[in-house]
Amino acid sequence: MAGRLRGAALAGCLGLCGTALALLAVVLLRAYVLRPAPGPRVWGRRPELGFELSARDRRELKEALRGAIKIQTVSFSPDDQNTTALAEFGNYIKKVFPAVFSAKFIQHEIIGEYSHLFTVQGSDPQLTPYMLLAHMDVVPASQEGWVAPPFSAEERGGFIYGRGTMDNKNSAIGILQALEFLLRKDYRLRRSFYIGIGHDEEIYGHKGARKIADLLEARGVKLSFLLDEGSAILDGFIKGIKAPVAVIGITEKGALTVKLSVEKEPGHSSAPPKETSIGILAGALSRLEQNPMPNMFGHGPEIRTLEHLASEFTFPLNLIMTNLWLFSPIVSRILQQMPSTNALIRTTTAITMFNAGIKTNIIPPSAKATVNFRIHPSQKAEEVLEIIKTTIADDRVKIDVQETFDPNPISPWDNQAFGVQIFRRTLLDVFPEVSSVAPGICIANTDSRHFAKLTDAIYLFNPLIIKPDDFLRIHGLNERISVEGYEKQVEFLYQLIQNSDIKKLPEPHANSHEL
Ligand SMILES: *[C@@H]1O[C@H](CO)[C@@H](O)[C@H](O)[C@H]1NC(C)=O
Ligand SMILES: [Zn+2]
Repeated sequence: MAGRLRGAALAGCLGLCGTALALLAVVLLRAYVLRPAPGPRVWGRRPELGFELSARDRRELKEALRGAIKIQTVSFSPDDQNTTALAEFGNYIKKVFPAVFSAKFIQHEIIGEYSHLFTVQGSDPQLTPYMLLAHMDVVPASQEGWVAPPFSAEERGGFIYGRGTMDNKNSAIGILQALEFLLRKDYRLRRSFYIGIGHDEEIYGHKGARKIADLLEARGVKLSFLLDEGSAILDGFIKGIKAPVAVIGITEKGALTVKLSVEKEPGHSSAPPKETSIGILAGALSRLEQNPMPNMFGHGPEIRTLEHLASEFTFPLNLIMTNLWLFSPIVSRILQQMPSTNALIRTTTAITMFNAGIKTNIIPPSAKATVNFRIHPSQKAEEVLEIIKTTIADDRVKIDVQETFDPNPISPWDNQAFGVQIFRRTLLDVFPEVSSVAPGICIANTDSRHFAKLTDAIYLFNPLIIKPDDFLRIHGLNERISVEGYEKQVEFLYQLIQNSDIKKLPEPHANSHEL
C-alpha cells in the first residue's frame, strides 16, 4: 500500500515536474527565440522632400502655434463656448497659412459656423483619400497654479506653456503647418486627403465633427484611414519598458451616463419610515461600486498591446508578457489594481453627482445621483445597462439614460492595414529611437467616433513623446509642449503626407525588417 502510494506520488511528481519543465521550456522559447510574427515590409522609399528648416521657418512654425494658443477657444459647457475666439481662430489660420488658403486644388469650407473642412485634391483620383482630424476648442483653465498664464503661450526652458498645446491645437495648427511647408516647396500631392478641425470636441462634437462627417457621407466619401488625437509615444508609462513606444489607439471606450432617482413621500423626521430616499439610493450606489463591471482582459485590444510590446520588457516581465497564454490571469489581476490600468480592462463606474435632502428635520422627498460609465470595447451600452439594472435590483430606483454611445469598432491592425503601415514608415523616418509600435485602446473620447461610417480604420495617435507627468497636464495645470517636440510633430505630419502618396503597400515579406 505504502509502496504503491510512494510510486504514485513519484509518478505524479514526475508528471508535474515534467509539465513544469515543458512549460518553462515553452516560456523561455517564446521569450528569447520566437520573435513576434514577421512584420510588414517597411519599404525603402524615403519621402521626396526632407524636413530641413531654416531659422526663419523655425521661428514661423513656433510663432504660428503660439499665436493660436493665445486665442481663448474655450468650451465652458455644452451650450457655452467662446464664439468670439472660435471665429477669431478661423481668421487666424487664414492669415498664417497663405499657401494652404490660396492653392487651387484645396477647397476650404466652414462647417457648423466655426469648424473647418479642407479638401486637398491629389493628382491621382484612383487613390482612396484619407483624413487628418484635430480640434481647436479647449477645456477651461484656472488662472492659478500655472507657471505662465494659460493663454499666454509663454516660452520657458524650451517649452511653450498654454491650454491647447497638447490638446489639441498642436495637431490643428501642426497639420496646416506641414501642408503649408509642402506647398511652398511645390510638392505635388498624389493622394487626396481631408483635414477636419472641429470646434466642439470637448463638448461631444455634435456641431463640428459630426456635421463634417455627415457632409462627407452625403458626398459619398470613403476613407482609407482617419488619424485623430488620442494616444502618443509613451515614455516611462509602462513598468519594465525602457524605450519610448508608440501606442496607436485602434478603438476608444464608449460612454453611458445614467441618472438614478428615488422618490418618496416627504414627512417629519420624528416618525421616519424604515428607509428614506437617500438610504435607498445610497444602497444602490454602493452596490454599483462594490460590484465593478466584469474584467474583460483578453476580450479587447489591451492584450494585443502587451503582446506587441512583449519583447521590450526587461527580465522577468518579458517572460510573462511573451507568455500571456499562461500568465494572463495574473496579468489581468495586476492590471486591475491601479485606476489607470484598470480603466483599460473593464467598463468603469464613476459616481459623479449626488443630490438629496432639504432640511435637517424633513424626510427627503427625493434623492438623485449621476453615474458615468466608460464602456470597454468588448461591451455595448445596452449590455452595461442590463448589468446596472441587475446590480441595483431595486424597482424603487428609477434609471434614466442621459448620454450614451458605444465604443468605437476596433480598427484593423495587420500587414494590409494601409494607415498602420504609413504610421510605421513615418515613425521610422522621424522617431528612430522608437523601437515598437503597438495597437492600443483610448480611455478618453475624441471626435473620431463620428466618422465610423466613412471608414473602419480609425487611428488615435499624436506624434508626441509623452511622459507620465505630461499626461496630468492635459486638462490639468501647466499644459505645455516642447518646441522640439512640436517641430517633430510637424515633421511627422509632413512625412506622413508624402508617405501616404505611395500607390499601394509593398508585399509583405518574411525577412523584412520589423519595427
Ligand atoms: C473669448 O476670447 C477672446 C479672444 O481670445 C478673449 O479676448 C475673451 O476674453 C474671451 N472671453 C472669455 C469669456 O473667455
Ligand atoms: Zn482633445
